[in-house]
Amino acid sequence: MRTPIIAGNWKMHKTINEAVELASSVSDATAVLDGVEVIIAPPFTALSRVAEALPADGRVQLAAQNCYCEGQGAYTGEVAPAMLVDAGCSHVILGHSERRQLFGESNELINRKTHAALDAGLRVILCIGETLDERESGRMFEVLKDQTAEGLKGLTPEQMDQVVIAYEPVWAIGTGRTASADQAEEAHSFVRGLIAGLFDKPVSEKVRILYGGSVKPDNVDGLMAQQNVDGALVGGASLKADDFARIMNFSVEA
Ligand code: 13P
Repeated sequence: MRTPIIAGNWKMHKTINEAVELASSVSDATAVLDGVEVIIAPPFTALSRVAEALPADGRVQLAAQNCYCEGQGAYTGEVAPAMLVDAGCSHVILGHSERRQLFGESNELINRKTHAALDAGLRVILCIGETLDERESGRMFEVLKDQTAEGLKGLTPEQMDQVVIAYEPVWAIGTGRTASADQAEEAHSFVRGLIAGLFDKPVSEKVRILYGGSVKPDNVDGLMAQQNVDGALVGGASLKADDFARIMNFSVEA
């Protein structure tokens, strides 16, 4: 019912030429793919060149990893949503835990960015997720609730068609320690319930919730077999064409 999404967050990796090469490999690997949306998020510097290199009738969609919440102005170092559209992006990742933790992004700022991105015509991949400390001290559900409710504040049900959620437990990012399929399902079904409360049941049933945090070729199938896991936001393994191709070709058959 929900078309799965496999997305690669390249983080701060790849020069322009390297990005074009990897994007082309990903695009080639989608030729035989059916029923899966594929998104890649190269660094800002490579976006327009990757957009040019991807076949116009191809299957790979382009995302940025961040944007600012204003249309233009004196915001040195920031990138406006419309600039990303201009560079060929259809999506933007917002609220990644690295932005929250290393760059101090608040739920409020992420919400403003979400509105600005949607207003510019981008689709948003909104990341949420608890730290290990929050999980171990029993605050996981509270954190997910705050991040979801505040991140999506003021959006209409129609705008939710343009939003994808990514549950990325911080303790599983870049650590090789993945949430078990059961842990992912528990968080995803909780978040879907939250969205039903914030909007309504049809919205919650339509929204795609991706899992992120050390997704690899050898664990993607188990994660994707969960009822509420609608895809993956892949970091490290998205930098290797073969690994990412295997992840795109996940199999939920036993
Ligand atoms: P890893 O797959 O490297 O753990 O990164 C996950 C992530 O942060 C994707 O946004």
